[in-house]
Amino acid sequence: MNLMDKAIEAKKNSYSPYSNFKVGAALLTKDGKIYTGCNIESVSYTPTCCAERVAFFKAISEGNKEFEAIAISGDKEYCYPCGVCRQVMSEFCDKNFKIYVNDKVYTLDELLPYSFDMEK
Ligand code: THU
Repeated sequence: MNLMDKAIEAKKNSYSPYSNFKVGAALLTKDGKIYTGCNIESVSYTPTCCAERVAFFKAISEGNKEFEAIAISGDKEYCYPCGVCRQVMSEFCDKNFKIYVNDKVYTLDELLPYSFDMEK
């Protein structure tokens, strides 16, 4: 199963009774592990977590901090990562990190140019 298939599979676990918009993500580490995520919503809205961040936080909480690529699948043809998720990606990934959105692929630098950094 490829990375996008894993994202599509993870979408099935989406808990999204408020938006009714399901998202799945599959995150590939540099050493070949895959962590999946789905969006998880809350009745008070703000605790909602996107599929991408669920995948990142699962991986990071298990000691993985080096990432190669993420695939994202939502309830529309092209589901691009939100700004908050792009910022989280920039915390842990270099500018060549690959973001697969359906049949398109981008680098993190293309989706988040001039990102905030206190050092450079
Ligand atoms: N959502 C994601 O999971 N990933 C994104 O990149 C954009 C939005 C979720 C959050 C919420 O549960 C639903 O999609 C509608 O915004």
